[in-house]
Amino acid sequence: MNRKWWKEAVVYQIYPKSFQDTDRDGIGDLAGIISRLDYLEMLGINTIWLCPINVSPMRDNGYDIADYYKIDPSFGTNEDLEELVEKASERGIRVLMDLVVNHCSDQHPWFQEAVKNPDSKYASYFIIKETDGEAPNNIRCYNAVSAWERIGDSNRFYFHSFAKEQPDLNWENPFLRREIIEMMKFWQQKGIAGFRIDAIGNIKKSKYALAQGMLPPDGDDGMVSVDKYVLMQDGIEEYLQELKEEVFDKYDMMTVAEVSVPEERMEQFIGENGLFSMVFDFSYTDMDIEKRNGKEWKRPWTIGELKKKIYDSQNSIQKHGWGSPYLENHDQPRSVNKYIPRDEISYESKTALGVLYFFLRGTPFIYQGQEIGMENYPFRDVKDLRDPFAVSRYQQSVDKGENPENDMEYFRERGRDNSRTPMQWDDSTYAGFSDVEPWINVNPDYVQINVKEELDKEISVYHFYQKMINLRKNPEYGETLTFGAFQAVETKEEALIGYRRTDDNYRITIWVNLSNKVAELPKSRAASMVILNNRTELEEDRLLPYQAIVEVEGGKE
Ligand code: GLC
Repeated sequence: MNRKWWKEAVVYQIYPKSFQDTDRDGIGDLAGIISRLDYLEMLGINTIWLCPINVSPMRDNGYDIADYYKIDPSFGTNEDLEELVEKASERGIRVLMDLVVNHCSDQHPWFQEAVKNPDSKYASYFIIKETDGEAPNNIRCYNAVSAWERIGDSNRFYFHSFAKEQPDLNWENPFLRREIIEMMKFWQQKGIAGFRIDAIGNIKKSKYALAQGMLPPDGDDGMVSVDKYVLMQDGIEEYLQELKEEVFDKYDMMTVAEVSVPEERMEQFIGENGLFSMVFDFSYTDMDIEKRNGKEWKRPWTIGELKKKIYDSQNSIQKHGWGSPYLENHDQPRSVNKYIPRDEISYESKTALGVLYFFLRGTPFIYQGQEIGMENYPFRDVKDLRDPFAVSRYQQSVDKGENPENDMEYFRERGRDNSRTPMQWDDSTYAGFSDVEPWINVNPDYVQINVKEELDKEISVYHFYQKMINLRKNPEYGETLTFGAFQAVETKEEALIGYRRTDDNYRITIWVNLSNKVAELPKSRAASMVILNNRTELEEDRLLPYQAIVEVEGGKE
C-alpha cells in the first residue's frame, strides 16, 4: 500500500463567498476564513479546499477567472492567502486551490486580445472559427444553448462548454499549456498543497466538435450535447501527463479531478502511477437527476439503488486506486434534503447519512455547513436565485413560452444555490456571517441550525462529525478505517446498508439503517460497538429508524 499524506486527509470544502465576511460587503473573504481556523481545527479536519478565489467578474462565482495570478479583491489579497496558508499550517491544515483551466473568463486579457486581434498569438489560446455566417455546428453547451458565440458582428465564433462568459481554452496549443504549468507552480510556491481540478475531462475536444457542419442531434432542439464531443476524448491523457510530471509529482501534491472516469480508464487516471490522486465520482450524488433536452430534471430512485451505486463505486475504485467520498459540494443541494424524506429529517437521519459515507475507502470531503446539518433554502421566487445557470435556465423557459414554475420546482430541490447560502454561525441577524445584507439570502432556519447551537448542545450533528473524524484518527482503529479494504455486506433488508473495512488487525463493520422502520441486523455478530449515532442504547440485532453503528471485531496481539 502506497502511503500518501492525502490518504489520511479529511477535507473541508469552503465556498469563500459564503463562509465568513469580515470587511462588511456581504461577501465572505480570506480574513474571514482565517478567523474561523480555530473552529476548523476543533472539528478535526486537516485539509481545506477553497473554491476559486482568483480575480473574476463572478459570472459563475469565480469559475470564470480573469487573472490567474491574483486573488479577487472581494476576497482579499495574495498576502491574505499566504497568511491563510501559514496560519492553517500552524494548525496542521493544508490548503488546496481550485484549478479552473478548461476555460477562463471572457474578461481575461488573453481573450480580450484574441477577440480584438485575430492575428494575435492569444487567438490560438481559444477555439475560434471563422464561417460564412452560421455557427460552425449544432453543439449544445451545458447552459442548453449553442456552444458557439459570435464575436461582435464578425463571422468569427468562439467555443464555450459552459456559459458564454467562459470561453474554453485551446489545450492543443503548447504555449497555453506552458502558461498553465507556470501558474500552477506559482501557487505551489505560495504553499498550496494541491488542487481540486475543475471540469478537467473537457479539455480535449474531438475533431468533430471543431469541424463545420451539422452533427446528429440528440434532442428536439436540433442540437447535440457537448459531452459527446468534448468529454474524456482520446488523447486527453497526454495533456494530463504533462501536468503530472511537471507539477503534481514534483511537489507531492494532492489532486482531485472533477471528472467521471469509465472503469476501463480508471487505472490510467487513479492507478498506482495514475494521473490524479483521486477523482470525484458522481454515480450516487447525481442518482436523483436525469437529462432531457440538455436540462437536468429530478428522477425517482430507491435506497436499494443508492446502496448498489455505493457498493459498485467502492469496488471499482478499490481495484485501481483511491476514492473521494462526499455527499455535498457547491454544485449539489444539501444532502439531507436529497436522501431523506422531508418529514424524516432529524439529528438521527443527518448523522446516519454521515456514517454512511464517512468510512468508505478514500479521503472524505465535508462541505461547509454539512457538519451542522444545514438544509436546503425554501426558494420561492426567481429573484432569490443567484446561480447564473439557474437564472438563465428560468429565462430560457420564459422566452420559449414554457412554464418556468417547473424549473423553480427543480431548483428548490436541486438548485446549486441551496448549498451556497451563508454559513450559519449563530442566531444573530445574518447568522453571524456578516453585519450587512449578504449577497445571497441566509436560510431562515438559521435560528435553529447554527454553529453556536451545535457547539452548545451535548448531542449535535457537529459533535457527531467531530467524533467520526476522531475515529478515523484513532490510534487503534484509524489505520483500518483509512487503509483497510472495502467489502460490501449484503442483507435482505433494503434500507440497511452495511459495509466492512478490514486489514490484518481488525474487521470493522458499518451499519446504517436509512429508513424510518426498524431494520434487523444479522444475528450472532461477535463485535463491539465503537460509534452509535443516537442516545438510545443499541437493541440487540436490530437498528431503530435512522440508527447507525460502527462495530469492531479482532484486535492487535
Ligand atoms: C464545475 C464547477 C461548477 C462550475 C463549472 C464551470 O462543474 O464545480 O461550479 O459552474 O465547473 O466552471
